[in-house]
Amino acid sequence: MRIGVLTGGGDVPGLNAAIRAVVRRAYEYNFEVLAIRNGWEGLVLGNIEPMSIRAVSGILPIGGTILGSSRTNPFKREEDVEKSLGNIDKFGLDALVVIGGDDTLGVGARFSQKGVKVVGVPKTIDNDVYGTDYCIGFDTAVSFVAEALDRLHTTASSHHRVIVVEVMGRHAGWVAVVGGMAGGADYIMIPEVETSIDEVCDHVRSRWARGKNFSIVVVAEGAKVREVTYSEEELGEKDEFGHVRLDRRGLAYTLNTEIERRTGFEARSVVLGHLQRGGSPTAFDRVLATRFGVFAVDMLKEGLSGNIAALQGNSVVPFPISEVLSNSRPVDVELYEMAKVFF
Ligand code: F6P
Repeated sequence: MRIGVLTGGGDVPGLNAAIRAVVRRAYEYNFEVLAIRNGWEGLVLGNIEPMSIRAVSGILPIGGTILGSSRTNPFKREEDVEKSLGNIDKFGLDALVVIGGDDTLGVGARFSQKGVKVVGVPKTIDNDVYGTDYCIGFDTAVSFVAEALDRLHTTASSHHRVIVVEVMGRHAGWVAVVGGMAGGADYIMIPEVETSIDEVCDHVRSRWARGKNFSIVVVAEGAKVREVTYSEEELGEKDEFGHVRLDRRGLAYTLNTEIERRTGFEARSVVLGHLQRGGSPTAFDRVLATRFGVFAVDMLKEGLSGNIAALQGNSVVPFPISEVLSNSRPVDVELYEMAKVFF
């Protein structure tokens, strides 16, 4: 069997661990692996080349992806779909291992509907791929957020300030809720539950009244905040999947300015940005990526294409890629309610 492997969408720590696992397992079965460069773009352009086992030596702990990534969507243009199918033929690819989040796996699902053998591996720090409890990269991202909050606590408490910390999370607030719980956030704002500047200000005031003269507010970049509406047009060009750049909302800065103005307490803002996606994966992400990568190749060997490798409880199981395309995975509201116990 000849397998093409690609990574698409925002990078995460643990992608290389997954690529290594795919290649190592494939060679155990005497399957060949070809590297598709820069996500779906590589399939459209035919930027595809053989991958030896030596290419994955030493990459387990390294962040990013040796394959490169992009947000190319071949289904934006019919001719790109044709070019992709042509290259699958030209390079003799029997199957694809697609490592990505919602968008990349969604494209995988559409190629699968066209008869291509596809298996998926879920990765995104947003942790919002339907069907799996965890995606590669999420654990590393929330570990980083927790460490950042620890550091911000000492400076916020020394200066008696409010610090607003913006984390990633377009449609789902998993990073904000789990990172915030791990780092002892005093208030968390997410896309799934509308909050307001008034509520944050009341909360900060009530903490002061209890003798807590500092506060850490964690806000997801896509958080729904009653007074902070925005039109997508203001935020510039959309990517090929129709997403605007949410960092352009400047949500943390708006909140810090308003909190200072309304409460009179000094405030600062910090945007953690791409630091959340950089660096070496945690042990959890290395092991998860390894399990997913091995399982993806095993699914192909057993004729289980059309599925992603999903973590459900403690087991890695096949889960239909078509369901990933048509469902989302918002934050567990019970978990958010639990985080609120500590506000
Ligand atoms: O894809 C996940 C993600 O990390 C989102 O949380 C964020 O909105 C986006 O990527 C940022 O992507 P870019 O790398 O294009 O700035």
